[in-house]
Amino acid sequence: MPIIVDPDPEVVTGLLAAMPPGSHGVESTERLQAWLATHGDEYVVVLGPTLSTDDVLGTTEALRVSRPIVSTILVRDDITTELLRAAIKAGARDVVASDDAAGAFDAAIQRAQQLYVALRGPSGAMHLSKVISVFSPKGGVGKTTIAVNLALALSDKGARKVCLVDMDLAFGDVAITMQLFPTHSVEQAIGSEDTLDVEMLDVLLTRHPDSLMVLAAPSHPDVRERITPALVSRVIATLRETFDYVVLDMAPSFDEQVLTALDGTDDVVLVATLDVPTLKNVKVAVETLDMLHVAPEHRHLVLNRADDEVGINADKVEGILGMPVVTEIATSIDVAASTNAGNPILFSDPQHQFSAAIRDLTRALAGEQLVPVPAAAPEAGAPEGRGRRSRKRK
Ligand SMILES: Nc1ncnc2c1ncn2[C@@H]1O[C@H](COP(=O)(O)OP(=O)(O)O)[C@@H](O)[C@H]1O
Ligand SMILES: [Mg+2]
Repeated sequence: MPIIVDPDPEVVTGLLAAMPPGSHGVESTERLQAWLATHGDEYVVVLGPTLSTDDVLGTTEALRVSRPIVSTILVRDDITTELLRAAIKAGARDVVASDDAAGAFDAAIQRAQQLYVALRGPSGAMHLSKVISVFSPKGGVGKTTIAVNLALALSDKGARKVCLVDMDLAFGDVAITMQLFPTHSVEQAIGSEDTLDVEMLDVLLTRHPDSLMVLAAPSHPDVRERITPALVSRVIATLRETFDYVVLDMAPSFDEQVLTALDGTDDVVLVATLDVPTLKNVKVAVETLDMLHVAPEHRHLVLNRADDEVGINADKVEGILGMPVVTEIATSIDVAASTNAGNPILFSDPQHQFSAAIRDLTRALAGEQLVPVPAAAPEAGAPEGRGRRSRKRK
């Protein structure tokens, strides 16, 4: 997906509006390098007008050699002959004027895509993978349950290639939640930061019967410290080469592995519950994601256990966190029971409100607008009208 680099958030927002849906913004050329390290399928980089000319030309020149398949488009306030000459020399694909960016972008990005198709072949160009992190700074809020069911929903019984990665490297429970008994995990990739490839990684994956691949967490907590950030980057970049979706079930912390994984993430699913400590921590997490510029336009807030009668409702949460709630999930004994049985609820009970909420989330990730639906039938004994509610994205 196209990426724009500019330190001014307003400029990024303005230019993103003129770029294809799903495009991303980062604030510096250093962040761009981190992005490219995990996005082998990137085909165009837009360098914004607030960057210095030296920075823009240096980055273009470096990309010309290191990533010749990536086209660079320069957006400048003043286009002089001297600038054009330097841009051509550095290897820029296009230079567009700031006040004409919207008009000129379409054609410039299309040209970049055509070049990419020509260089990689149509199948290479078609393969655009998406990395989705399911994150919350709190444990026990439903991250793993949501990640497992989301990965199954995205896979659509094998129609799309999906890999679920247990990034809770010390206390991961994806395998047990899915009743899998992995013989290998990311542990066997330790030391392969520079050599890991698709074939090597393939051996470490565990297949779930529903056509989903899982990269399990190590079986002992002390292995976590040997999984370097460089290895995390390499694993994600390698999975991108073959999978349509890579779903990361994150640890509830901002440790270096989690931060690295977030850096390579396209979309973040944030999980919150209706208790003040969780909301406080999610707010701090959102501020941290803002500071790190992680997926600014691609965050999806899920409210789990949203029916808890605790004096806070979804509207209040939206106010506190400054973002819309994509979907609300009620507390249900069926969810806990399905976890205990190792049988994901999306398949054991597709009509359940939890399963419907996961499908809402899947649609939100695909960029669809959600329309409110009537509350699902309440569970026996549950008060009236407190089922899942999908919310229109603002
Ligand atoms: N909406 C819900 N209703 C009832 N139980 C839930 C719900 N969401 C999650 N749980 C249960 O809570 C426990 C913790 O969930 P989990 O997904 O492991 O959280 P996390 O990964 O955030 O630590 C699991 O037993 C799970 O079945
Ligand atoms: Mg978990």
